[in-house]
Amino acid sequence: MKPIVAIASDHGGYELKEFIKDSFKIKWIDLGTNNAKTSVDYPEFGYAVAQAVAEGEAEFGIAVCGTGIGIGIAANRHPKVRAAMCTDTTMARLTREHNDANVLCLGQRLIGTEVALDIVKTFLETEFEGGRHERRVNKLSETQ
Ligand code: RB5
Repeated sequence: MKPIVAIASDHGGYELKEFIKDSFKIKWIDLGTNNAKTSVDYPEFGYAVAQAVAEGEAEFGIAVCGTGIGIGIAANRHPKVRAAMCTDTTMARLTREHNDANVLCLGQRLIGTEVALDIVKTFLETEFEGGRHERRVNKLSETQ
């Protein structure tokens, strides 16, 4: 079954957010922003994606800003979120397999659109490996 995915960006990630939404026929929960012209603050959008995933409204989140870094820092402040900024498909695969990452962060200024689509596809299709990785992922919650 295709996952429900929450997606948000600041103004610096708006165009890539729209491109991703148009490219995958899955159920999106779009949490803004709504245009590239109005300057907004990435923490608000990182928190919104984190909350949607943590509360089970969406299985995964995608958060886009200029670099993917600021919005990822924001998302990772939620104890139930494991947000990973990825610039290639290997990172996307490994962060799903090893970290059970539930939020993918992308930087519109850093990667091309085709690379972004491959990253999203890999992230959404790769399963968590569990086993020794489960013990480590559980330890992430112990420190919160
Ligand atoms: C906005 O100008 C920019 O700072 C933001 O999109 C992001 O790159 C922050 O990490």
